[in-house]
Amino acid sequence: MQYRRLGHAGIRVSALSLGSWVTYHNQVDTKSAVEMMAAAYDAGVNFFDNAEAYAGGKSEEVMGAALKTLGWPRLNYLVSTKFFWGLERGGEAVNRKDTLNRKYLLQAIDGSLARMGLEHIDFVYCHRPDPSTPVEETAQAMHDIIRQGKALYWGTSEWPADAVRAAWQIADRHGWHKPQMEQPQYHLFHRRRVETEYARLYEECGLGLTTWSPLASGLLSGKYRDGIPAGSRGALPNMAFLHEGLTHPARNAAVAALAPIAAELGGTLAQLAIAWATKNPRVSTVITGASQLAQLRSNLGALELAQRLTPEVMARIDALTAPLAD
Ligand SMILES: NC(=O)c1ccc[n+]([C@@H]2O[C@H](COP(=O)([O-])OP(=O)(O)OC[C@H]3O[C@@H](n4cnc5c(N)ncnc54)[C@H](OP(=O)(O)O)[C@@H]3O)[C@@H](O)[C@H]2O)c1
Repeated sequence: MQYRRLGHAGIRVSALSLGSWVTYHNQVDTKSAVEMMAAAYDAGVNFFDNAEAYAGGKSEEVMGAALKTLGWPRLNYLVSTKFFWGLERGGEAVNRKDTLNRKYLLQAIDGSLARMGLEHIDFVYCHRPDPSTPVEETAQAMHDIIRQGKALYWGTSEWPADAVRAAWQIADRHGWHKPQMEQPQYHLFHRRRVETEYARLYEECGLGLTTWSPLASGLLSGKYRDGIPAGSRGALPNMAFLHEGLTHPARNAAVAALAPIAAELGGTLAQLAIAWATKNPRVSTVITGASQLAQLRSNLGALELAQRLTPEVMARIDALTAPLAD
């Protein structure tokens, strides 16, 4: 495993990490979570990503139960959660959904700590921007969560660069804990934000990146070339919103054209896609996802394959995928 600094922070995250979106509670029960987290940890993974909204809070419960079973020293691993959507959708939840207001954030952290059975969470994220709450209110609430000892670092997920910078500057001016990391989508077909929009933030704000969906939800594994296979994420009843992206004809054709490159390098398509994401030095960790232990074990081989991604191979990969990328 390689370990990389989270931007300019002292903390080091494993270059590959493991997240629980879609999978925990829906596809992965506590027993499987224990097996998969143990396999990841044994391979050197030290960061496990979660969010309040995943499976309506159940994902945090599964990870919390798994952590309890695993009994690792708390110093050895990093856990995250994220706030924005809230756990209730009804009209009475007006101040507890789709928001980053102070009241919601200061209560949400307590809920996550209880579901995870932890005394602190290492990384807490504002899961989306909330234009209806002043960024100063949100930044101060995140600072207060850290001051209370309930979290160690805070960051954002899918915020526009200007909003990240505004939060960082306000926190800097007030001497508050500053946002330390972003969590953007980053894969062969989704690059602009990481490679262009955030470019000035890396040095100016010392921002680290914990990137998500390295396989574009499985598209880059090649499994969607002939439609949506049974048992895949795309076949899950509540994942219909992914269908268009997963069955995109030109992108699937590009994935087919990547297959011989992966084979030449002695790896799988999934390893190639994950390895590609690790090649960007701004990426602190690539958060992978897996519904099965075998997928995880195989995907963890990506770092070895990354060593064989020479500039010449990277250029061949780019020629096939960059023209199709957002
Ligand atoms: N901040 C955010 O807004 C945000 C958004 C999304 C994700 N995330 C984080 O990023 C993590 C990773 O995202 P992701 O799950 O979308 O990652 P991904 O790597 O793009 O997709 C993972 C899924 O692809 C399939 N897969 C994985 N390895 C495979 C292999 N070797 N062969 C075939 N299929 C394979 C599995 O789904 P099936 O087996 O079910 O097909 C697996 O669950 C999440 O768990 C979450 O922690 C954050």
